[in-house]
Amino acid sequence: MRYLTAGESHGPRLTAIIEGVPAGLPLTAEDINKDLKRRQGGYGRGGRMKIESDQVEITAGVRHGKTTGAPITLNVTNKDHQKWLEIMAVEDIEDRLKTKRKITHPRPGHADLVGGMKYRFDDLRNSLERSSARETTMRVAVGAVAKRILAELDIEIANHVVVFGGKEIDVPDGLTVDQIKELAQQSEISVVNQDREQEIKDYIDQIKKEGDTIGGVVETIVGGVPAGLGSFVQWDTKLDAKLAQAVVSINAFKGVEFGVGFQAGYRKGSEVMDEILWNEEEGYTRRTNNLGGFEGGMTNGQPVVVRGVMKPIPTLYKPLMSVDIETHEPYKATVERSDPTALPAAGVVMESVVATVMAQEILDKFSSDNLEELKAAVAAHRDYVKHF
Ligand SMILES: Cc1cc2nc3c(=O)[nH]c(=O)nc-3n(C[C@H](O)[C@H](O)[C@H](O)COP(=O)(O)O)c2cc1C
Repeated sequence: MRYLTAGESHGPRLTAIIEGVPAGLPLTAEDINKDLKRRQGGYGRGGRMKIESDQVEITAGVRHGKTTGAPITLNVTNKDHQKWLEIMAVEDIEDRLKTKRKITHPRPGHADLVGGMKYRFDDLRNSLERSSARETTMRVAVGAVAKRILAELDIEIANHVVVFGGKEIDVPDGLTVDQIKELAQQSEISVVNQDREQEIKDYIDQIKKEGDTIGGVVETIVGGVPAGLGSFVQWDTKLDAKLAQAVVSINAFKGVEFGVGFQAGYRKGSEVMDEILWNEEEGYTRRTNNLGGFEGGMTNGQPVVVRGVMKPIPTLYKPLMSVDIETHEPYKATVERSDPTALPAAGVVMESVVATVMAQEILDKFSSDNLEELKAAVAAHRDYVKHF
């Protein structure tokens, strides 16, 4: 399964084409819309999120409620585009209109300046429009399709925020993927510990008043994963490495860890490796899951636990200093739009890209022209590894 996304932040619409989804998968626009809505929610977001209630239109690859195996095309209209008709026009326009919303004061922490240098733009809006996190709408849409495939195979995925602007959320031990999903989705800030909810919301309000922003750490967990996805035979076949790339490809994500992650650098081997057990009902299991479900670039049958760190949103309402690219004089950076944090929304994006990579790997490994064929192949593999 492969996909591409296209579309600008204020252009007419965003598009994704996905190829390689098995035929016979039940799929509706609603399956995708519910995740698009989650991406637009979360405490601390305002403005455009209220204008844009995103709705997907499926224009290819699905017939009578089921995929046909043909490429699937997904479209989301940017309702806001109506206010940007001239600024984002495809056709050339009069020069005097071109300076409307022209950007010459690049925002630190964004693609504005370097994108301008690379593509030789005199209007940095060309960098802004495509590098904007608005693109993650389509990654969530693609992820929703991937999650439909995973759900058919009894693979569940959830995300929750574990650090909010330096404040660590203590997570109760022993929560299942379903419990994490339910608790995080009930919370406006995607945390599983409701006792911390008000304190964090107050902190977000305070940051907003200060005209500042915060980032944090999101954890995504995938349960029901069969052992043996990914491979050790080549650097680019390792599944943990593919997941790392997908997570760092999300706007503002700066690092990834699996299981205990960077803590492994502070512990002894006996405190990191997961001892191997076997029982008739489950087959191979582990005493712990410190390695987050990966050994040798392959899933080991334990839940995949991956964390991503998001930097604070770079646009500040108390703007940072920048330089005018026409005069080289110091200026305050352009403020396009901002929120104190987008961490809960970013968690939905992370869950979506992780689901997409997991589904891609499954479709690569197993026979998958049709959903029933895929289900039979995965079931046979699960049975084999259990009695290995
Ligand atoms: C869900 C989500 C929403 C975001 N919203 C904003 C925003 O409103 N304003 C902003 O300046 N950056 C926002 N960002 C971050 C920027 O898109 C990102 O920092 C920028 O494109 C530069 O990319 P880099 O941080 O990966 O280098 C958001 C990121 C995500 C994941």
